[in-house]
Amino acid sequence: MLTLNALYRRGAPVAAALKPVGAVEPTEGPRGGRPRAAVVGAGHVGAVAAQRLAESDLFDEVVLVDVVPGLAAGIALDLWHSAGLARFSTKLRGADDLDAINGVDYVIVTAGKPRKPGMSRTDLTAANAAIVGPVAERIAQVAPNSVIVVVTNPLEEMTHLAAVRSGFPPERVLGMAGVLDSARFRALVGLTGVARPDEVRAFALGSHGPEMVIPLSQAFAGGKPLTQLLDAATLDAIVERTRDSGAEVVKLLQTGSAYFAPGQSAALMVIAMASGSDEVLACAVEPHGEYGLSGTRVGLPVRLGRHGLREIVELPLTAAEMSALREAAARLGERIREVG
Ligand code: NAI
Ligand code: 2OP
Repeated sequence: MLTLNALYRRGAPVAAALKPVGAVEPTEGPRGGRPRAAVVGAGHVGAVAAQRLAESDLFDEVVLVDVVPGLAAGIALDLWHSAGLARFSTKLRGADDLDAINGVDYVIVTAGKPRKPGMSRTDLTAANAAIVGPVAERIAQVAPNSVIVVVTNPLEEMTHLAAVRSGFPPERVLGMAGVLDSARFRALVGLTGVARPDEVRAFALGSHGPEMVIPLSQAFAGGKPLTQLLDAATLDAIVERTRDSGAEVVKLLQTGSAYFAPGQSAALMVIAMASGSDEVLACAVEPHGEYGLSGTRVGLPVRLGRHGLREIVELPLTAAEMSALREAAARLGERIREVG
C-alpha cells in the first residue's frame, strides 16, 4: 500500500487517484460529455498548445506524446501542477507511444523539426514528411474519428500528407497557419496605435509563406475599414512584416522558431471546434470549387464545427485579391503534388 510519505519522494509511485500522468488508459470518444484532445510532439509549440487546451477547461483530458522518452510525461506533470493556479480540471497525460491517444476527438500534430536561421519552411519537407506520414497513419488507427490539426512545416504540404496518409476526409484534416498569420497582422496593426490587436479583424489567406495573401478590403478595426485608418504604405509594410514574422523570430531566437503564438493558434482551432464558437478563422483546407479553387490545400476563411470543417466562407474579395489567392493556390497545388 502507498504511504503518504511515498507521495513526497521524487519518482515515487503515484496513487491511482493521482494517476493522470503517464498512464495509458484506452477509451473511446468523449468522457463525461467533455471531448478529449491530444498533442503529438511535446516540444515548444506542443507544450504551449497543451497548456492553452488545458486552461480552456473544455476537455476531459489532454494527452501529450513525444518520441523523446519522458518528455511528454514531464510536460504533462508540470502542466498538471498548474491546475489549481490556472483553475482547470482537465486531466493531463504524457506518453512516448501513440497508443496513448486512443479514441481522442482532436489531435494537434506538431511533431517535426523547426527552422534554423537561414532555412525556409520548404527546407524541412523531407525530414518532416518522414515524421508526419507515419504519425498520420497511426492516428488513423488509434483515433479513427478524430479531427487532425497539422502545425508541422511546411504547413500546407504536411497537411496534405497527413490527409493522404490518414485517409481522413478533407473536413477532418486542417492546417494551422492562417490563425497565426492573422494574429501577427493584428498585433502589428496594434503597434500603430489605431486600435488594440483584439479590435482588428483580418484574415491571412493563401500560403504560410511567400504567397500569403491578406485582403485589405476585408480588414477592419473597431468596425472601420483599415484602409481608412492607415495609409497604403503603412499597410503594405505591415503585410510585408507579417509575411516575414516567422523568420524574424527565428533570427532572434537562433535556436528554433516561434511557439507562444503558434501554440495558442493551434489550440484556438481545437477550442473553436469543441466549443462550437462559430467564429470565422483562416485555416488551410481543401477547397471544392469555393473561390474557383480545387485540387490544392490553401488558407481560406472557414467555420469549424465539432467534427471539423463546416463551411468555407466566401468573402467578397477584390479582383486583385482574388487573383493573388488563385496564384497562391496554384503554387501550393504544385508543391503538394510533389509531396504526396
Ligand atoms: P520542437 O523541436 O520544439 O518540437 C518538436 C517535437 O516533435 C520534439 O519534441 C520531437 O521530439 C517531437 N517529435 C519528433 N518526431 C516525433 C514523432 N514521430 N512522434 C512524436 N513526437 C515527435 O519544435 P517546435 O518549435 O515545437 O515546432 C514544431 C513544428 O511546428 C516545426 O515543424 C515548426 O516548423 C512548426 N511550426 C509551424 C507553425 C505554423 O504556423 N504552422 C508555427 C510554428 C512552428
Ligand atoms: C512561424 O511562422 C516557423 O512557421 C513558423 O513562426
